[in-house]
Amino acid sequence: MKAVILAGGEGTRLRPLTLSVPKPVVPVVDRPFLRHQLDLLARASISEIVFSVAYQPERIQAVFGDGTALGRRIHYAVEETPLGTGGAVKNAERHLDETTVVFNGDVLTDVDLPAVVRAHRESGAKATLVLTPVPNPAAYGLVETDASGRVKSFIEKPSDPSQITTDTVNAGIYVLDTSTLALMPPGQNHSIERAFFPALLRRGDLVRAWVHRGYWIDIGTPEKYLQVHRDILQARFPVHLEGEPRNGGWAHSTARIDAGAELEGRFYVGPGCRIDAGAHVGPDAVLTAGVTVATGAWVRDSVVWEGSTLAESCRVDGSLLGARVHVGRHACLAPGAVLGEATVISDHSRTR
Ligand code: GDD
Ligand code: MG
Repeated sequence: MKAVILAGGEGTRLRPLTLSVPKPVVPVVDRPFLRHQLDLLARASISEIVFSVAYQPERIQAVFGDGTALGRRIHYAVEETPLGTGGAVKNAERHLDETTVVFNGDVLTDVDLPAVVRAHRESGAKATLVLTPVPNPAAYGLVETDASGRVKSFIEKPSDPSQITTDTVNAGIYVLDTSTLALMPPGQNHSIERAFFPALLRRGDLVRAWVHRGYWIDIGTPEKYLQVHRDILQARFPVHLEGEPRNGGWAHSTARIDAGAELEGRFYVGPGCRIDAGAHVGPDAVLTAGVTVATGAWVRDSVVWEGSTLAESCRVDGSLLGARVHVGRHACLAPGAVLGEATVISDHSRTR
């Protein structure tokens, strides 16, 4: 069995971070996002994967190549123009065998994938969808089921509150009989949620739901992207981080942390970072790689990408900083700041 990962969206809600790094490879703590999905797929013994790509495909290929370095076989189905979530699966069809796992390339979850695949096979369904309860279902695809778990209808991102009839939403993970892809027009834009699944139901095919009540998040907004880092640091989603435990957080062996630095709560200090005496890191700070935090600077509840520098006595709180950002001395970034690659914040600037 093989998997298709839908990794072609433009990640507009994560701009400006995704202007230079496509969402599937944004760093999530110590690794590019899709590595977390490959780990989950490995638990279901899936090591051959098709990345369905459209936006900046070469940047995704540069990270994963053909997968050999990770012990996987990775194929790329590249779209000239984005074909939508359904068209993207159709475009990968030639690589697939009779059963296919489809993953939205921006969800992180501990769903028991082998159990979902088993249930799919035992039920004889043509498609099995993972659903998950969320507090704000309107932002997702609502999926209505009957008491037996048979899917009755799809309501993708309802605009009318009266349509919110359930809090279990499409988690963006499906097991499909690959033969069902015959329903999709080749080479055309097609939505798996709005067109393909409703077409399966109209045809009378059995579509079943698997409700997952464990960890699940779509990392596609700044709030959720920051949240996933808190969740990993606080072990709500278990990841074996590449680093050593240090003062309650983790630090890579090549990070240089001065003995006079103040470390608080959970944090991750990645390879090549430098934390000076009197700098304050944490709680919930992730410095992915090569980040410098100078004396008196304070970074908490934030994600800071490779090569950024936080100068003396600046404050970075609740913020997302792309690669090679410079935050000047005494500058202050308040919660909600999202800075694109190479942004320069001058000394004493503040966002609030
Ligand atoms: N290859 C390819 N081509 N991939 C695409 C395309 C495309 O044209 N459009 C979107 N994708 C990928 C995105 O990169 C992402 O990984 C996934 O498909 C879903 O797209 P999003 O744009 O993130 O959709 P969403 O989050 O608003 O909604 C979807 O996911 C929700 C769960 O997170 C829907 O599937 C909802 O029903 C679902 O609840
Ligand atoms: Mg999404």
